[in-house]
Amino acid sequence: MTLQVIVGAQWGDEGKGRIVDWFAEQADFSARYNGGDNAGHTVTVGSRIFKLHLIPSGIIHPQIIAILGNGMVVNPTTLFEEMDFLRQAGISVTPERLRISYAAHLITPAHQALDRALEAQRGKGSIGTTGRGIGPAYTDKATRRGVRVGDSLAPDFCDRIEDHITESNRTLRMLGAPELDSAEICDQYRKVAARLEPYIADTSLELHTALQAGKKVLVEGAQGTLLDIDLGTYPFVTSSNTTAPGALTGLGLGLDAARDARVIGVVKAFQTRVGSGPFPTEVFDDLALRLRGTGEHPWDEYGTTTGRPRRVGWLDGVLLRYATRINGIHELAVTKLDILSGLESIKLCRAYRGQDGEFTDLPFGPADPRRYEPVFEELPGWSENVSDVREWNDLPKAAQTYLDRLASLAGVPVRLVSVGAEREQIVPHS
Ligand code: IMP
Repeated sequence: MTLQVIVGAQWGDEGKGRIVDWFAEQADFSARYNGGDNAGHTVTVGSRIFKLHLIPSGIIHPQIIAILGNGMVVNPTTLFEEMDFLRQAGISVTPERLRISYAAHLITPAHQALDRALEAQRGKGSIGTTGRGIGPAYTDKATRRGVRVGDSLAPDFCDRIEDHITESNRTLRMLGAPELDSAEICDQYRKVAARLEPYIADTSLELHTALQAGKKVLVEGAQGTLLDIDLGTYPFVTSSNTTAPGALTGLGLGLDAARDARVIGVVKAFQTRVGSGPFPTEVFDDLALRLRGTGEHPWDEYGTTTGRPRRVGWLDGVLLRYATRINGIHELAVTKLDILSGLESIKLCRAYRGQDGEFTDLPFGPADPRRYEPVFEELPGWSENVSDVREWNDLPKAAQTYLDRLASLAGVPVRLVSVGAEREQIVPHS
């Protein structure tokens, strides 16, 4: 098996970074296929915490070649900051180790300004975006006005940036937002072009060649299944295909690459979401505080990118089952089991009830506008601290029962469980 896809099975923030880190030890390439610096992937190695927004977290392993695929939108300012941060941490970031698709799109300050202005205009109906310019960059891509990474190689690159700023200023004016100085941005992007050049590549061809040679490619999904533009809780979604099949188009791979691919769905032991949109199993008050944490620990439920407190709730087995189906998940990695220790009982949503009956598959997917109530079952909790457990059989029986039930709702097995933020705090299923 040469292609492994790590995908978030919820609304993002499932802890994909640390799971990627675990699998990356055995991989040759680590590739991202969607989104941009709206993502925040955290890997903890001893006292060092790596928070990466754009560069695949596999790069921390010295043998890895990191790929930014054509499906991504790349903010060069974040990219350069991240490259500098990694270098300062002693990680080699060279054109041999970091490859960026010529067909990925560039994010500019105009996209960020438009993101903010559009959110302000939406008022109460705002999506709660990360403000990183993701939606406007993908809008420009879809309307064929986008500026691609490869365009930075063209002699008329600055003219294209200027046209893009002029066009964006027109919209900003209509939205009543301040306009941008195109000369300043052109100057900035001229420097960006020079710095990007050595890293630009045909990453589709490179990955194809690597797979043909039997190399192991670890694919790192950003955000989560329920934020997918087509299959998520639309319109409260991001603007890309976050689901595993998007890895093919987002990396320029053909269907043959999927033949013996393995899809690992990362699912938090409870549910979280940041931003607006439906969240049927959401909890509030003391229980919410208990699951979210106060913000004093790096693993508490506050956004890696925005610092916003995350909404929290019980695990939604119906949406997990949906995620398993549309991603083709083979096995699950469950994260943050340790956070549930000490709860007297734990609820799990096993179905939805509406006027027309009870459903284990929502009739019109997660964005179904009709009203359904979650149907919960309640399992006993456990009091033991599990953060030092490394063997499946050492997990408390109640924790094993909870994981077994989660697996049976999803319809696929649990392969591993994380019980803390540290690299070695992983319990493989025996
Ligand atoms: P955007 O991707 O910035 O346009 O934001 C759209 C929605 O996706 C908002 O609800 C964001 O909070 C959410 N979102 C975007 N990226 C992430 C992520 O990496 N983790 C969790 N939520 C995200």
